[in-house]
Amino acid sequence: MRNIAEGYAESPKFVRKMLWKIWHNYILSRDPEFEIKCMNYGYADLDNKLEPLELNEKDKTEGFCLNLYHQDIAGNKIKEKEVLEVGCGRGGGASFISRYFHPKSYIGLDLSKKAIKFCNRNYNVPGLSFVQGSADDLPFEVNSFDDVVNVESSRCYADMEGFLSEVHRVLRRNGFLLFSDMRTIEGNEVLKEQFKNAKLKIIEEKNILPNVLEALKLDNERRQTMILKKTPKFLHKSFNEFSGVMGTERFRLFEDGIMNYYHYTLQKVD
Ligand SMILES: C[S@@+](CC[C@H](N)C(=O)[O-])C[C@H]1O[C@@H](n2cnc3c(N)ncnc32)[C@H](O)[C@@H]1O
Repeated sequence: MRNIAEGYAESPKFVRKMLWKIWHNYILSRDPEFEIKCMNYGYADLDNKLEPLELNEKDKTEGFCLNLYHQDIAGNKIKEKEVLEVGCGRGGGASFISRYFHPKSYIGLDLSKKAIKFCNRNYNVPGLSFVQGSADDLPFEVNSFDDVVNVESSRCYADMEGFLSEVHRVLRRNGFLLFSDMRTIEGNEVLKEQFKNAKLKIIEEKNILPNVLEALKLDNERRQTMILKKTPKFLHKSFNEFSGVMGTERFRLFEDGIMNYYHYTLQKVD
């Protein structure tokens, strides 16, 4: 478990899928109270650009993580649309968007069968459902969705080109891919080439690293408390690393600007 937490994203591509399944099973066994609904680094709205939302008390606990979803869809009218999220994890973002922005339907997809079973059992939101599947082999017909949401998941994919080609296939004409994830500066250049090859036009590009870094700082205490509460001592270092707790290598990579964090709005134009 320790090695999984420390090195999942750097592990050979063919083992990543397996690692995520093991990872979800582990968290499911450790969090029967369902306190962890999001698994991302979060976003602090530094210049108050996001539409103000009155979050309920439960949502406030993971407010920074939900903000990462909020900035991802900001500027795009989700209401009444048919939306797919790829890599929905424990469904916190899917539930948040469904309840606050009212799409016609929202399907959360993740690799982990158990996480999907868990989401289908624990969320009861009109229009929201969850399906197991892989980013590079989406179980949907062509032209099925108006928007695809993808938050802090793509970096784990064994086949990024396969994922983008699938997004292009399932999106309707003029539909949007709303994408947020971390990359190095060089990795971002590769990413832009991948978008171009997949015929997804960049409508907006933002480096949101300052917002993610600030969220990690402001959310640091909650993250550490969760780790102390949910994991045995010998795994604390690994979970701190995975969660980007202050003082870890992961945090330092963000702080030094070696790892960046990008948001893209992309459109299927042909
Ligand atoms: C860091 S978590 C983020 C989860 C969620 N987006 C959030 O912000 O809370 C990454 C998620 O991507 C999922 N994932 C990894 N590889 C995948 C693949 N090939 N297809 C679908 N989901 C995948 C993992 O199972 C995990 O739930």
